[in-house]
Formats: sequence, C-alpha cells, structure tokens
Amino acid sequence: MELKSGKSQLLLSKIATNDEHGENSPYFDGWKAYDNDPFHPTKNPHGVIQMGLAENQLSSDMIEEWIKKNPSASICTAQGLHAFKNTALYQDYHGLPQFRHAVAKFMAKARGGRVSFDPDRIVMAGGATGANEMLMFCLADPGDAFLVPSPYYAGFDRDLRWRTGVRLLPVTCQSSNKFQITLEALEAAYESAQKAGIKVKGLIIANPSNPLGTTMDRSTLRTLVTFINHNQIHLVCDEIYAATVFCSPSFVSVCEIIQEMECNHDLIHIVYSLSKDMGLPGFRVGIVYSYNDMVVNCGRKMSSFGLVSSQTQHFLASMLSDEEFVDQFLSESIRRLASRHDSFTKGLEEVGIKCLKSNAGLFCWMDLRHLLKEPTFEGEMGLWKVIISDVKLNVSPGSSFHCHEPGWFRVCFANMDDEIVEVALRRIRMFVGKCKEVDVQVKKSWQRNLRLSFSTLMYDENMGSSPRMMSPHSPIPQSPLVRAWT
Ligand SMILES: Cc1ncc(COP(=O)(O)O)c(C=O)c1O
Repeated sequence: MELKSGKSQLLLSKIATNDEHGENSPYFDGWKAYDNDPFHPTKNPHGVIQMGLAENQLSSDMIEEWIKKNPSASICTAQGLHAFKNTALYQDYHGLPQFRHAVAKFMAKARGGRVSFDPDRIVMAGGATGANEMLMFCLADPGDAFLVPSPYYAGFDRDLRWRTGVRLLPVTCQSSNKFQITLEALEAAYESAQKAGIKVKGLIIANPSNPLGTTMDRSTLRTLVTFINHNQIHLVCDEIYAATVFCSPSFVSVCEIIQEMECNHDLIHIVYSLSKDMGLPGFRVGIVYSYNDMVVNCGRKMSSFGLVSSQTQHFLASMLSDEEFVDQFLSESIRRLASRHDSFTKGLEEVGIKCLKSNAGLFCWMDLRHLLKEPTFEGEMGLWKVIISDVKLNVSPGSSFHCHEPGWFRVCFANMDDEIVEVALRRIRMFVGKCKEVDVQVKKSWQRNLRLSFSTLMYDENMGSSPRMMSPHSPIPQSPLVRAWT
C-alpha cells in the first residue's frame, strides 16, 4: 500500500504524523537491509548478517529441555490441559499471583540475591518497551524532560518520547573516561535545561548499559542517587541486563544502593524484562517495579493496555519457580556469554579493532575511529553504509545511540551460532585487510606524488581485480574503503 502524505496527513493525529518514533534512523535502516537480504549459511551465504539485534540465543536449548521435562507447565499439552479454561478467561490485570511471586524471586536471583522484591509491587507491561513508556506516563507530562546519559539505547527515543510527548535531554559522556557518567555532566545538562525553561522530571539510565556493555560502579550509582535526591527528580533504572553480566565487576543494582544510603524511595523506579536475561523477547514480559505507591497504583491501571497473556504468565510462573533450573540456567548462560564475548573480541583484536572494555550485555562497543575517512558523523555514515552494503554486516552506528563522538559502532554477538560468528569475523578480516591495502596505496601514491584519485585506485592492479569486476558472489564485491570514500 502506498502511503499518502501531504494533505491527508492533516486528518491524522500528531502522533500519527510526527517523526519521533525514530523508524527513519540508521538503526532501523540496518534492520531493513537485513530483512531484504538475510544471511543463510546455505540458502543465502552472501546475505547480510544481523549484528544489530540484542538477542540472547545462546541458551534457548536449556529452556527447550525444561519444557520437555515439564509438559504440565503448558496449557497446550495433555498434562496441562486442565488449566486451559481458567487461563483462557479474563484474569486479574494485576497479574496472576503465582506469576508475580515467581517474577519477584527471579528478579532477586538476577541481582545475586542481595535484594528482595515485593510481589505486590510488580506491575506488568509489554516488555521493557512498555514498562519504560508506562513510567513516563506516570512521571511526566508532555513537554517535560528526562535526562539520559549518552550514548543511550536507540529505542529510548521511541519508547520514552513518541506517544508521551516527553523530551529526552542527553547527558554527554566521553570516551576519554570510558563513557562514565560524571556529576559535572549531569549538572551541566540539568542547568542548561533550567535555563531553557524545560522542566526536568527525572533521570533514566540503563544499567548495565546498552550500547556500552558496562556496569555502573557503586560510587557512580551513589552519585546519581544523591543528584536526583538533591533536585527532587525521579530516577528510572532500566536493569534489563541485570543477569547478563558475564565477568567482573559484578552487577550492583540501584536497589542495593538505596538500602545503604538516605534517599527518598518514592523517587526510585526499576524497569525489568525477561527479554535478555532469559532470552525470551517474544514473550513480551516487562516489569515496572516502583517504590512509590502512587506509581504502582497508576501503573496497574495502565497495565490493561499491555498485559502479558495469562498463558505466558501461567507457563513462566511454573518455570521461574523451579529454583534449581533457574540457578543452573543463569550460571550456564553467563558462562556461554563470557566465552562468546571472549572469542569475538579476540577475533576483532587480531585485526586491530578494539572495543570498550565490557563485562555485560549482548554486544560490544567497537572503536572504528581509525577507519573513518574523516572524524565526522558524515564519515561515520559513509563507513556504516559500506559495512552494510559491501561487508554485509548489520552493525549499528554510534550516532543512532546519540554518541557524541563519531566512529563508534555497536555490534551484537549473541544472536547467532558459532559458525555465523566465524563468517562475520572472516568478513571483518577481509574488510580491514582491504582498508590497509588502500591505505598503503594512498601513501605510495602520495610518495610518488601521483595524487591518484580514489576512483583511479579502484582500478589499480595492485588492488587485485577491479572491484567492480569481482564476482557478484564475493563477500566483498567492491573495495569497501574506496566506496566509503567516494
Ligand atoms: C536498555 C533496553 N531497554 C529496553 C529494551 C526493550 O526490551 P523489551 O524487548 O523487553 O521490550 C531493550 C532492548 O534491547 C534495551 O536494551
């Protein structure tokens, strides 16, 4: 269906016609490139490999095994059918009590058992996406703002702003201190909002961070809590990767911090989900956990708009109550993630690509500044286009995470099997090799004072066959860097 624009747009709402969803960003463009030409080891071996999706597929076999051993957990088996009728009828929109109990226990386990959660404060939403939006509806009015340390999760623009009318004000973090949040940066963002007459209602963080893959230390968390307390604004902590921390330092939840220091608990709200730690994004299980009674009450009323289906609740109540399984799952999942992270980052290091040192998440924050033609966002976009269209990897450019410095890219490593990782690394190796060749050629040409243009270089015999004449089935049909520079 062709979308009509112009006059007919006037008939629609502001939400329907504004561009705040962010769908027209490279982050989503990369997904489209993958959708149009998805890699398959035998059916489409030269297709685009999806490395832009923060999905944890490394441990789904353990869940499958559990399902086989526990047929009564499903209402679609002979053993579980007796629960069908009840589950299929309307249920309390606060959530099945057994589900809220099981989730509260799981959330505690995901935080090393150092904190506990009250099942009566668990509010359901459609994934962390729905949970984040729900909190914005509860905490801010259209035009109000939330501070968010950048680089930040690209989906926040959609989840926090699009339908709520809330603004996001980046708190700029720098590579020079490993993108850590400082009090100075927080205060600068807060003060400039105040000068502009913008009402700041809170600060939202993702800890562990997407896209950085790092966790916040105790002292940073204490700084944040002090800052929001001092200014009497809210703190929303998206802890969706709480149990996706595969090496030290271990994860510290804000829940631990507020046990240790004086603060107004009414200002603290947690977002959680089973999408990452359990690898179940399709189940759309999101949680708002607020220490503020009014937010819990309002959230419950709102949860009618994004309930988790009773069938899913029924199944998860059973699985998450199996403590032995949960313990084994979490420790094995972390072991597998650590091993994948190690092998992937080592593969990158071998070709001179460094990543920000990370201990969490399903991605690396890759430093490709040395491959940029120029240190600008145009340079970043040029390189990204080459990586998508020629190297055929969907990685996400830093600009889509509002990174302040060009040249950083997020690359996901847990949504594929070992063989596909190998193909991706092989492509990266070839790409970097080509980049080096071009570099040498450029230097030689300058030495000889020939001032070869890049288009001339494309036909230089030292580059191998003319890239344009390469087999269309070559994984790198055209010299990437040359393309990036033209
Ligand atoms: C920090 C963060 N918050 C929220 C989400 C959305 O999660 P869900 O799939 O549970 O909606 C993601 C997904 O990547 C994320 O990384």
